[in-house]
Amino acid sequence: MSTQVNTGLDAKAREAVAAGLSKLLADTYAVYLKTHGYHWNVRGPNFASLHALFMEQYTEMWGAIDSVAERIRALGQLAPQGYGAFGNLTSIKDGDPEKSAEDMLAELMRDQETIVATARAALPAAQEAGDEVTASLLSDRLTAHEKHAWMLRASLGGK
Ligand SMILES: [Fe+2]
Repeated sequence: MSTQVNTGLDAKAREAVAAGLSKLLADTYAVYLKTHGYHWNVRGPNFASLHALFMEQYTEMWGAIDSVAERIRALGQLAPQGYGAFGNLTSIKDGDPEKSAEDMLAELMRDQETIVATARAALPAAQEAGDEVTASLLSDRLTAHEKHAWMLRASLGGK
């Protein structure tokens, strides 16, 4: 009995799409972790609202991480796991608990934009392969991370 993937997407395309998703997974995990840390360590007069905003964002990302990883598995590839593997796949740096609230916001805003760029870069491979499921997932992730970036930007006074 063959256990080969037979879902209408060829092996090369599934590999390429999964590679893009793996980078997205690593970026999202890294920013999830940083946002959760800043939820703990943010300080200042806006503590309550930032503590809550960061919780809303890390909770959303935590839910998404599983969907991205499980899409990689449905494509017949193994999902990266562990700090070492994620560190090799992402350019996101660890957070710094000593930072001011404003610096935390600015850093997270850029990090959200980095995830947006990663998700956008992963889209052509999915579209070229006719992988509507991944394209739809990436569209959902773009929607979420563009919204996260907007909320962080607006908290800094930007448009
Ligand atoms: Fe908490």
